[in-house]
Amino acid sequence: MTKYRLAAIAAVTFAFVTTFSQLEAQTVAPAGDAALGKAKFMGYGCYECHGTMGQGNYFSAPRIAPHPLPYRALISYIRRPSGEMPSYAASILPDKDVADIYAYLSSITSGKPASSIPALSSVTTKPK
Ligand code: HEC
Repeated sequence: MTKYRLAAIAAVTFAFVTTFSQLEAQTVAPAGDAALGKAKFMGYGCYECHGTMGQGNYFSAPRIAPHPLPYRALISYIRRPSGEMPSYAASILPDKDVADIYAYLSSITSGKPASSIPALSSVTTKPK
């Protein structure tokens, strides 16, 4: 009896650990190439709405870089967007290309704050 109970506990623990490590594997972004990603960001037309550096545009799409969404959230949005964005199935935009695009978006650094640019500092709205 105890032997079966132990086996059951071991099986449940094993299932839990396996599931958890699979989830973890999906959370970690696969290795991508930022230079290739930039070319793909242009090639697939992401830039047309999000801007060449993912900076977004008030009229077409939000900013997606710097600090892109975590990889898992990003790829699931690309596969099944909920708003105006067209969806990209894996048959059109393979996971490998998403990994490269993610590497590109992650490589984009923040620009200078507007307050440090003399021509903009006088027109910048300061938080109250
Ligand atoms: C036709 C315009 C258009 C194109 C092309 C486009 N997007 Fe989008 N994207 C949007 C819009 C608009 C949103 C805002 C949410 C919505 O309406 O779907 C968005 C949202 C997103 C988001 C979620 C942002 C967030 O913070 O929730 C990601 C990530 C994203 N786009 C990535 C991409 C990538 C990568 C590509 C290229 C493979 C791409 N988009 C191509 C219009 C576009």
